[in-house]
Amino acid sequence: MSKSVNKWGIPHLTGKEIRQSFIDFFRERGHTFVPSSPVVPHDDPTLLFINSGMNQFKSIFLGDNRLGLKRAVNSQKCLRVSGKHNDLDEVGRDTYHHTFFEMLGNWSFGDYYKKEAIRWSWELLTEVWKLPKDRLFATIYNDDDEAEAIWKNETDISHDRIMRFGEKSNFWEMGDVGPCGPCTEIHFDMGDLSTQAATFSDPVLGVNGTNARYIEIWNNVFMQYERLQNRDLKPLVAKHVDTGMGFERVLSIIQGTGSNYETDVFRPLIDRIADTTGVPYDQGSKGTPHRVIADHLRALAFAIADGATPGNEGRGYVLRRILRRASRFSQELNQKEPFIYKLLPTLVDVMGDAFPELAQRQDYIAQVIQAEEERFMRTLRDGLTRFAKIAAETRANNRSVIPGSEAFLLYDTYGFPVDLTGVLAEEQGLSLDQAGFAAAMEEQRERARSAAKFDASLAADEGWVVLLPQKDTKFVGYQELTTDAKVTRYRELGDDILICLDRSPFYAESGGQVGDTGWLKSDDLELRVTNTFKILEMHVHRCSLISGLLSPDKIKHVHAKVDQASRTATVRNHSATHLLHAALRKVLGPHVQQQGSRVAPEGLRFDFTQPRALTEEEQATVESLVNAEILANHGIAIAEKGLDEAKRDGAAALFGEKYGDRVRTIKMGEFSYELCGGTHAEATGQIGLFRIVSETSIAAGIRRIEAVTGLVALAQSRQQANTLNNLARSLKVKPEDIEHKVGELTERLRGYDKELKAIRLEQVNHRVDALIAQDAKSIGGTLFLVKKIDAAAFPRDTHQVLLDSLASKLGNGVAFLTQVEDGNLSLMAAVGAEARSKIKAGDLIKELSKLADGRGGGRPDKAQAGSKFPEKEPLVLAAAGDLITKLLG
Ligand code: ALA
Repeated sequence: MSKSVNKWGIPHLTGKEIRQSFIDFFRERGHTFVPSSPVVPHDDPTLLFINSGMNQFKSIFLGDNRLGLKRAVNSQKCLRVSGKHNDLDEVGRDTYHHTFFEMLGNWSFGDYYKKEAIRWSWELLTEVWKLPKDRLFATIYNDDDEAEAIWKNETDISHDRIMRFGEKSNFWEMGDVGPCGPCTEIHFDMGDLSTQAATFSDPVLGVNGTNARYIEIWNNVFMQYERLQNRDLKPLVAKHVDTGMGFERVLSIIQGTGSNYETDVFRPLIDRIADTTGVPYDQGSKGTPHRVIADHLRALAFAIADGATPGNEGRGYVLRRILRRASRFSQELNQKEPFIYKLLPTLVDVMGDAFPELAQRQDYIAQVIQAEEERFMRTLRDGLTRFAKIAAETRANNRSVIPGSEAFLLYDTYGFPVDLTGVLAEEQGLSLDQAGFAAAMEEQRERARSAAKFDASLAADEGWVVLLPQKDTKFVGYQELTTDAKVTRYRELGDDILICLDRSPFYAESGGQVGDTGWLKSDDLELRVTNTFKILEMHVHRCSLISGLLSPDKIKHVHAKVDQASRTATVRNHSATHLLHAALRKVLGPHVQQQGSRVAPEGLRFDFTQPRALTEEEQATVESLVNAEILANHGIAIAEKGLDEAKRDGAAALFGEKYGDRVRTIKMGEFSYELCGGTHAEATGQIGLFRIVSETSIAAGIRRIEAVTGLVALAQSRQQANTLNNLARSLKVKPEDIEHKVGELTERLRGYDKELKAIRLEQVNHRVDALIAQDAKSIGGTLFLVKKIDAAAFPRDTHQVLLDSLASKLGNGVAFLTQVEDGNLSLMAAVGAEARSKIKAGDLIKELSKLADGRGGGRPDKAQAGSKFPEKEPLVLAAAGDLITKLLG
């Protein structure tokens, strides 16, 4: 540790030292260190990103502490970019909010409570780190007298520095539903450092007042309720402590910078941005682009390292928005080419030690970011084109306001911030419907909210008919496909009935494998199970009623039976997925990492990191390799062992996935060895046959293979063979000669096409000759042809040829023709070479089409227009005669 002290008298510590001393402090007090979970939760559909240290302990708070953990400490990677805790739009404008940040936390699970939590917080801050007591404030929840007494009796904080606040600041909730409780927060007064300091000499106004002087650094939550869907608070079985400290904020205090962006975890990034762009960093608003880029780079890098990728939905969409925001700000620093990805080495320098996943996936992360930056720059260009079109349409409709829905589309699809659209509109003398934009935005937020609520609400007791208190389901489906079971709870949801059992052979959707289908039967009821999914450790069977009437006493006991055919098909696909994964790594290299998969009865889908498309040859090699391993008929060995042991043996784990201490391993000969909780065949031979159906790109750097196995592969081969045989029969050749035959036919068709065109041209020429001979009048030596022509003689696709022919034959002549077909009026003009000095076909059409509210134009020799008002034809014809006569003098 270095001895120097900062302007507040606090001894200096590096970021690394602070992280470590927090962990050590609580370890010495009986806390178990729990590593940060990935920032992308793999099995909580209610959460897009980890947003607090307590996320990984959610089920313990709700009553399921099967590991018997009493005290824990960690530093958790967090992202606050969606849902209840979302800071995205603020980030970069101030010096202390982030999308990605580290949260230091300590936890008690039904163990110590307020007294120890408060005492230890104070001790660490003031005795270990030596933060000056006269710069600290403690806030408590309005009616939490207990916390106030503890602050007064157990610490030496000055009593006038304890402040009461309401629910907004001092009652912490994880989300719309879930664990929550009153909290006590600790704030630090940065005093004279920031430019805003002078405005808040009074802490009563400053604390919790959104300013850069009084900064919240540590939140101690006393978890004692579960928030239910109906807003009621249900007391938890036990009381817990959940704390979270903003690592970067504490850093800015201990390092005396007063701004998170000037601490040793950020400053190297800020400097690199300034050096590369040549735009110096500014602590005020001119520094916003630097701050945004540094912050967003961290969010992107960690999310991508943990398995998320930019895309159009959910998590992917949030990442895309973060990248676009950073990219827009990089343009303010005059970067016209992808730029953000170049900062990755600096980030790895700063954080690669504490988070090795960054260094391990550095190339991949850079590649994804660069590709996404390129895509955005293209999108911006497309967006400008789109804007031009919207502006033109607005004007064409004699309006001056760009509709809010269009501005929203520009925002949503093209990443245009609304103020940019506003500026562009202004440049064109238009304005923007801001209210309409806000409404469209709110609509989208509402959609997102209700989507998130659905799943979350199912976790609470509310709405369920609870028959037995037991919440978890014993899964017996690795060995059995039928069992007798007790119903623990059920509820109706729309036309469906959700049923939970004490034990179940039904696999619940997870790890990419879909949930099982089948049947539940009691003496009085029969139900079809259409899907099975998991809420925490409960298997939920989504059912439709086949017969009987649902009531609590008719559904106490059921016989559960999994649809065997469908399970067997799924099993084949799952085992084949493992072979495919191993085969891809063999053929393409170890950079292939699983990004996602879906295993269902009808087929499998496997997404993996790979920078380019697979050649046909590579696909064939992979397919053959998988089939060779199927034919080798390896026994599939499934074992349970310790995570460390499995990793030592070389079992492949999903990158960024968090596993328990005991894991299940699946081994197929020496070919494939993976951690997996899914259901598998007994031997690879049961897969039968493996066929790749498609290979596509789903995002930059990520490919997707879809494949089928077993009976589906067989059925598909048979169907293709049938198609081929039928084709051979109708072509009257052997199947192996089809290709040759089709080539021959195509060639012949091409010849016919050419011939046909020539014949039509000749035909039109003849008809044009006839037209001129019969209908053209001569006025003073000039030929003059105004006529309505028939669609049977001159169908629309001959009009070009017709005009060409006329223009070449008319010499010193002019033709104006009309035709009505399908409710449309066509206007055509052709002018011979010698007449073009007097009359231009384009002018003629322009003038005459006005009379029919039509649009069109063209060249001096030929021109065309269309109109939706066929009834104007006589008027146009009459006017044409007059106009031409006049022009010819
Ligand atoms: N879970 C609490 C927070 O995130 C500590 O603020």
